[in-house]
Amino acid sequence: MEQKIIVAIDGYSSSGKSTMAKALAKTVGYHYVDSGAMYRAVTLFAMRHGMIAPDGTVDSNALEADLPKIHITFATDTDGSQVTELNGEVVEQEIRGLGVADHVSAVAAIGAVRDRLTALQREMGVKKGIVMDGRDIGTTVFPQAEMKVFVQASPEVRARRRWLELAGKGQNVSYQEVLDNVRERDRIDTTRAISPLRKAADALELDNDHLTMEEQMQWLLGKFQEIAGGKN
Ligand code: DC
Repeated sequence: MEQKIIVAIDGYSSSGKSTMAKALAKTVGYHYVDSGAMYRAVTLFAMRHGMIAPDGTVDSNALEADLPKIHITFATDTDGSQVTELNGEVVEQEIRGLGVADHVSAVAAIGAVRDRLTALQREMGVKKGIVMDGRDIGTTVFPQAEMKVFVQASPEVRARRRWLELAGKGQNVSYQEVLDNVRERDRIDTTRAISPLRKAADALELDNDHLTMEEQMQWLLGKFQEIAGGKN
């Protein structure tokens, strides 16, 4: 019988991990799950329901009470790309803007939110054959994953990539604003009490500051073949 594995790709924001994870999933015929999109969709829900004060404080009690009302799904767009849905509405574009980015780390630090999304993510991996990217996939969601990758790049390189991406989408933000956002998210993601971003002891490290996407993909595919080889 064909045996598939779980691939967990964790790393800092805008480190290029989603692009790599998506490409790997496509190449090897696995499902791709963007766990960050799930935290972003919950953040959008909280913003829309007035649960985030102007100073950024999140009303975690109200959000926790409403968690059963939040349904996150993934659908395929006409061009074949994956889009995130919040209660049946496609919110892909909205969750990628700086509005959501400004609040998502605070929402992702709430224990009840993490418990709910972790449970959903584990369900998605029951049949294996999945590539999931995020912050705690190799440490908390799938500590038993057969392949774990931890992606690193400097804040400046990541901010530049993100800024180019946002500018390409017509969003008017300065490089400095994006760099500040990247640094602030790094700080919150690595220092939160529950499931902080950290490399799993058994994760393979990839520092991609000086690598092209093609070089990264070659490396990733090579590792996948080594690990999944006999099993796939
Ligand atoms: O990967 P991303 O930038 O779309 O993630 C958005 C935010 O969600 C990020 O600030 C950290 C949080 N996140 C998390 O806490 N755990 C995950 N598994 C994925 C994302």
